[in-house]
Amino acid sequence: MANCRPRSATPNNMKISRHKVAGVFLLDRQLATKGEALYGERTFDGYRLWNPRRSKLAALLMKQAQVPLAPEQIVLYLGAASGTTVSHLADIVSLVYAVEFAPRVARDLVRLSERVKNIVPLISDAAQPDYGPVVELVDLLYQDVAQPRQAEIAVKNAELFLKPRGHACIMIKARSIDVTAKPKTVYKREVKKLEELFDIESVHELEPFYKAHAAVIARLA
Ligand SMILES: C[S@@+](CC[C@H](N)C(=O)[O-])C[C@H]1O[C@@H](n2cnc3c(N)ncnc32)[C@H](O)[C@@H]1O
Repeated sequence: MANCRPRSATPNNMKISRHKVAGVFLLDRQLATKGEALYGERTFDGYRLWNPRRSKLAALLMKQAQVPLAPEQIVLYLGAASGTTVSHLADIVSLVYAVEFAPRVARDLVRLSERVKNIVPLISDAAQPDYGPVVELVDLLYQDVAQPRQAEIAVKNAELFLKPRGHACIMIKARSIDVTAKPKTVYKREVKKLEELFDIESVHELEPFYKAHAAVIARLA
């Protein structure tokens, strides 16, 4: 007989545990947050699976990094795209200002924000931040823009919007910055630029989930 269990029920033997970051869960070894499905991801009993191959933040959480996330936080997220990672982050923190400049994906982001009330979409260029009148000081700056000038963009936004001693989580895609250099060399160079403004807490390569990507966790000096 065919298995009639609905796709969204938790299988009887599935173990649900808490990740060390509040608001993040492990269903067996799969990462999840709580909420309804928003982009076609699988759900089980109110948990949304979060694929570390589709989200660098999920990849970082799978690496057991000390990620500075907490329920009361306000986050400024640069490079939101259609909001895959933003949607999970919004399950964890209190408010996400999500910046994206590409019109096609920004439309999806706006649609997402109509369903998820703690996401504020900002259709804008993070390199020329004009969202000052809307964005308050934030606890965490998250950046995933895959741009050659990404360190400069992070510094500019942190100077304007990050609370004193606030945290930053910056995703580096080595190939977007220098295709010829070794990824580790690119990470070192980017970290050096970030040291202008931040104390660097840790650097994590995101393999095996993302090739030639690293996450930098930093704090406003
Ligand atoms: C790697 S994708 C982001 C994926 C997304 N963070 C996620 O996990 O679902 C990078 C995004 O950054 C956006 N982006 C790049 N430079 C930008 C800028 N200066 N201002 C705003 N968005 C930017 C791109 O349009 C693209 O959608």
